[in-house]
Amino acid sequence: MAGVTKSSTSPSKRQRLSKAALALLVGVLAIAWSPRVEALIVGGGGSRTTDCLAVFNAPANRPARRPRHIQCTDGDPCDADGLVDGQCSFPVAACINSTLIDRCSLTGIETLTVEHAEDNGDPEFDPDFQALQARIDADLTFPSLATNQCALPATIQVPVRGPFRKNRCKKGKKRLRMRAVSTLIDDRRVKVDRDDLKLTCLPAPSGCSPRQFFSSTFDRVQRQIFNQTCAVSACHDSEAVAGSLLLETGASHANLVGAIPTNALAGNAGWHRVAVPAPGTGDLTRSYLLHKITGDLPTGFGSRMPLGGRKLDRTLVDVITLWIAAGAPNDGWVPGTD
Ligand code: HEM
Repeated sequence: MAGVTKSSTSPSKRQRLSKAALALLVGVLAIAWSPRVEALIVGGGGSRTTDCLAVFNAPANRPARRPRHIQCTDGDPCDADGLVDGQCSFPVAACINSTLIDRCSLTGIETLTVEHAEDNGDPEFDPDFQALQARIDADLTFPSLATNQCALPATIQVPVRGPFRKNRCKKGKKRLRMRAVSTLIDDRRVKVDRDDLKLTCLPAPSGCSPRQFFSSTFDRVQRQIFNQTCAVSACHDSEAVAGSLLLETGASHANLVGAIPTNALAGNAGWHRVAVPAPGTGDLTRSYLLHKITGDLPTGFGSRMPLGGRKLDRTLVDVITLWIAAGAPNDGWVPGTD
């Protein structure tokens, strides 16, 4: 490796060496490791001459002849959690300076960045992409000339969409993109490798029932609605806390049930975010949450939710309505929501 001299035993050089040794070991193991389904080195697309700068190590299986993307049915062997639980889990690792891509011999990488990995108000921020970037930053050294260095994998979860009416589900998708910039070439220019991996999770033929995916009505509200549509970056997550309302797991119930709205007009109207005048009995007319998702809002009561997004599916509005009417329980199943 360039620059390894007597002075190279200083801590930072030693750390770099041990990190490089670890990344090489991980690189070899990652290529040999096949948990449930073969992980492959996938170039990720872009120009042939730069495609080896950064690659994915992932259980790609589509298209069959030249796998570049992943498609799996919930619960099948290609789903690393092996459960029919409404999502597919895919271990994905990033490797650099790969010697395994045909007709590509470019080595020397300066940076490797995963798109939508920063929780900075990016509406497409994804915590799984953030975890992959964290593995890259922890396991790999930049700049690097060393070949076939791989970070440990991060798990990318792809939920199916649903259940909706008549317990139907739709396939869920994520698109993972990375951008690699080479070290200087001929001291004056760099090359860029843009990689793209599509991950698709198909609903299991055996079922798409709420009881299979969730542990209670409120668990369904949290995971199928709040996590996917409300507690997202720049909105009701712990970074932004839009409208002073936090809808993340563990906080949302207390932020809603019996809570006075931030919106003064709604508060003055005697509304709660979720109004439960007596145990087991909710008041739909005075529940601001319901008005927010149906859009039935008098002037000055703010916007319909999700802000700037499509109206919630009718099935999900019905689930929230039944949950509120039953007194917004934190656990157990409310009839009609399972
Ligand atoms: C279905 C998903 C969502 C639900 C259930 C929801 C629910 C709510 C509720 C109940 C309030 C009133 C808070 C109060 O005044 O006490 C509110 C306000 C607000 N929400 Fe959401 N929200 C959702 C999605 C979003 C998204 C995706 C964003 C960001 C793009 C967002 C941004 C805001 C903002 C800025 C306010 C304050 C202004 C207003 O009331 O119009 N919300 N939301």
